[in-house]
Amino acid sequence: YDYDLLVVGSANADLVIDVERRPAAGETVLGGDLAVHPGGKGANQAVAAARLGADTALLARVGDDGHGRLLLDSLRAADVDTVGVLVGGAPTGVALITVDPSGDNSIVVSPGANARLTPGDVRAAGSLFHASRVVSAQLEVPLETVTEVVRQLPPDARFVLNPSPPRPLPAEVLAACDPLIVNEHEARVLLGDACVSEEPADWARLLLARGPRSVVVTLGAQGALVCDSSGVTRVPSVKVDAVDTTGAGDAFTAALAWRLGSGAALAEAAGYAARVGAAAVTRRGAQESYPTAREVESL
Ligand code: RIB
Ligand code: NA
Repeated sequence: YDYDLLVVGSANADLVIDVERRPAAGETVLGGDLAVHPGGKGANQAVAAARLGADTALLARVGDDGHGRLLLDSLRAADVDTVGVLVGGAPTGVALITVDPSGDNSIVVSPGANARLTPGDVRAAGSLFHASRVVSAQLEVPLETVTEVVRQLPPDARFVLNPSPPRPLPAEVLAACDPLIVNEHEARVLLGDACVSEEPADWARLLLARGPRSVVVTLGAQGALVCDSSGVTRVPSVKVDAVDTTGAGDAFTAALAWRLGSGAALAEAAGYAARVGAAAVTRRGAQESYPTAREVESL
C-alpha cells in the first residue's frame, strides 16, 4: 500500500473566539482576540494520522483563496499527501467557533468548497482508493459523496466513518462501517426515537443492529465503548486538563483508523486513540494540537 490512511472529507478555516459564555438569541457578548486555525474534520483527521507517523492522503476541496492556502500549508507541514486536494469552485469552508472557559466549543460551519466535493471527484480519485489500506470519512461533505466512497472501496480496504454532523445514513453506508464512531450527541441523533435508554452500551448495541460491522461510542474523559459481534468493551482514557476540545474527536478517529490498519484489535486501537484525543485537548486549536507518536507514549 502507498497509504496507511486515505481521508475523504472537509477542510475548513476555523475562526475561533474565546467567550465567557455564549450569547442568547438577540444578545451580544464580547470575546477574546480572533484566532484563525486550519481545521475541518477531514483535514484534521489527515493531519492527526500523519503526525502519528501514518502515510496519509486527503481527498478534499478548498477554495482558491487565503484560507485554502492556510490549509494546504498545514497539510504539507504535517506531511499529508495533498495530490487529492482539489482547488476552486467556491470559497474554502469556514467554521465559526466559540470556546468557553471549560474548553467546550460550539461550531457553525459554512461548507463552501466542501459542498462541491462530488461523487465524480471520488470516482476520479480511484487510484488513491486502491493504494490505501484504510479509508475514513465524516459528514461535512455531501452524503452522496460519502456513499460513492463506499462504492469505490477496494474489497480489502477497511472503512471508518464518524457521522458528524449527524444525519440518517443509508443502509449501504452503514453496512460498510468498521467501525462507525459516534459521540453521545451523534448516537442520539442517529438512533432518534429508538434512543430510549440512557446507557451508552445500549446505544452501541442498537447501532450495531443497524448494520455496521463494529461501533465505537466515545465518551470524552470517560474513554470509549467498543462494540462488535463479541459484545461491548469499555476502554479507559487518561485524565488531562482540557484547554480546547475542538478536533479531539477527529484525532481519535484518525488514530483508531491508523492502528486498525496496522493490525490492532478494536479495543486496543480505541485505547490508543483515547490517549491521542486526550493529548489533543490539552492544547489550543485542532491540527496544531495533535501529538506525535512519541508524545502519546509519554502520556
Ligand atoms: O471537529 C472539529 C472541526 O469541526 C473543526 O476543525 C471545524 O472546522 C469543524 O468542522
Ligand atoms: Na485542541
